[in-house]
Formats: sequence, C-alpha cells, structure tokens
Amino acid sequence: MAILDHWHPILPSSKLKKNSVAGVRLAGNDLVLYRNSQNELGALTDHCPHRRMKLSLGKVYGDKLQCSYHGWTFDAKGNGESPATPKLYACAKHYEVAEKFDAIWVRNAGAVTQFPVFDVEGHYNVCNLAHRVKAPLELTVDNFCEIEHTPTTHAFFGYPLERMHEVEVEFKPTDTSVRVLNKGPRKNISLLMRTLVGIGDDYQFMDDWTTYFSPVYSIYDHWWQCPKTGKESMVRWRLYLFFVPIDECETAIFTFAFTKSRYPGRYGGVRLFKWLMSSMLDYEIRLDVRILEGLADKNPSIEGMKLSRFDRVLGLNRERIEKIYRGNGIHLAACG
Ligand code: FES
Ligand SMILES: [Fe+2]
Repeated sequence: MAILDHWHPILPSSKLKKNSVAGVRLAGNDLVLYRNSQNELGALTDHCPHRRMKLSLGKVYGDKLQCSYHGWTFDAKGNGESPATPKLYACAKHYEVAEKFDAIWVRNAGAVTQFPVFDVEGHYNVCNLAHRVKAPLELTVDNFCEIEHTPTTHAFFGYPLERMHEVEVEFKPTDTSVRVLNKGPRKNISLLMRTLVGIGDDYQFMDDWTTYFSPVYSIYDHWWQCPKTGKESMVRWRLYLFFVPIDECETAIFTFAFTKSRYPGRYGGVRLFKWLMSSMLDYEIRLDVRILEGLADKNPSIEGMKLSRFDRVLGLNRERIEKIYRGNGIHLAACG
C-alpha cells in the first residue's frame, strides 16, 4: 500500500475558489488542484507531460487546466490536448478528489481504501483548522498522542504538573487502531470558561482518543467529569485530527472540531461561542506546533529516547504506521 492510496485532506476548500489553481505537496509528491466554473475539482501531478512545466503555474481555461508554457489543456482524468497538434495523445497522472467538511481530499486513482468515518451525529461543527509543523509525521503524532506535555504546553486542555503523578493512563491497541484513555485532576481554567463549559470544582479532566492509520488520524473525546457522581461537563469536544506528511520534514495537521452541548437550544447554544472556542483551539494547536519545532533531533525513530509511562503509545503507533500506512519497506529519512 502506498501512502497516497489513503484519503488525505490536502487543502481547505476556501483556498481554492472557482476558476483557480493551487499547488500542494503530499508525502514528497507535488500535485496541482484546480476548480472550474462548474465547481468541479481536478487533481493532477504538478508536472506537464509535454516539457515538464509546473501545471500549478497554469490557469483554468474552458473548464480544464491549461499549462502556462504551450497552452496544452488537461481534464480531471489527466487527458491532455495540444492546440498545436490536435492528434497528439498526452496524459498527466490524475488523483481521485473529494470535498468534505470544507476540505479537499485526494488519493491515488483506483485505490480501494475507505474514506474516514465521521461519527458526529448530534454534534456541532465548531471549526475546521489547518496548521503546519516543521517536524516529521511520527514526531508530530507522538505529541498529539500523549498528555505528559499538557501541563507545560497547554492553556486549557490537560493536567496540572504538580499532580501529573495522579493521572491514570490506559492503552487499548488493536491490529488497526490504538486507543488511549487518560483521567486525572484538571488544570486551572478561567471562571468564564468553567461556567461556559459547565465544569464543577471537583471535576477531573477526561481524555479518550483512538488513532487510526488509513490515513493517520486521531479522534479525541475531551470532557470533564465528577469522579464521585459521574456527572459530566455540559459541553464535550470531539476532535478529528489528520496528520498529513507534506514531505519527510514537514507535516500538516487538519483539525475538524465538533462539540456536543447539553444546554438548551439548537446545538446547546454553542454557536454563540463559536468564535471563542475556535480561537481557543487554534491557540492550543499552535502551542503544540511551537513545542514540536523546538525538538533538538527530528529523527522519527524512538531509538535512544528515554520513554515514560505515557509513551508506550509511541511504539504502538509506529508499528501500525509502518505496516498499515506506509506499507512495507518505506522509511522516512532523518531531517536536520
Ligand atoms: S510544457 Fe506544458 S504545454 Fe508545454
Ligand atoms: Fe498538545
């Protein structure tokens, strides 16, 4: 299985208007996306079969993608036409393309992988975010799959440093997924946020997420809960984070954020605080990006690391990334 056989989100929909073209990069492959006047999308390799011009420097012409060099045009299946030599057959490699949750997704044409399932019935889509981090896929996933960094890195989600020893962690791996459950004392949160989210004084912070590997993504449930009564916060988060390798040294993070609220009204009033929740989440992810970019060694291997009780997940994820996501024998080189 090749990496591009999996469906990946590759560009927010808002970045590709009608009649426009964008160059993107996925696992070291340059692709061009275009959207024509009919709102139809095409995804091709960013390389003209004529004389190797970047197709991303072209434009939409007659609802096809036109190369800027000699004006050959290509449809969404890559079929090319030359105005100067009408009988010539030319073909550019094309990809399957889909548009869901305000993102454009691609995979190899003819691949048989399943599109990721979004189980969000009764949830409200607060925001969809895109970030980039100068770190390889594995190290990026590592950061989002352990909570030991939350006391020092995060403002809202996670646990306080002085009580980290009380936090319980449990791992539930299967052949195709890795589930991690954490619970423990919550961080100090502003009174405004506690009131909005409905967090009681003695509530614990609960984290329950599962990582899948076609493509590599994690689904996080975050909520707060009273350990004695089992009563939960009024608002819960469900976050879908997709980890998309741009190349060996850089990873894109696409976040699709949902909430479920028990407050009365449509979507439990969450819509009123959409802006606040979305900027808070954006801030939390930018804190992750900042910490990751400070790594002294960006070799994706865990060899030589002194791992903690929260880090068992690193090895579990790597085994499945190698087997399910990359297929056999494909390894990332270390980056500087
Ligand atoms: S290089 Fe693209 S048309 Fe010639
Ligand atoms: Fe984090």
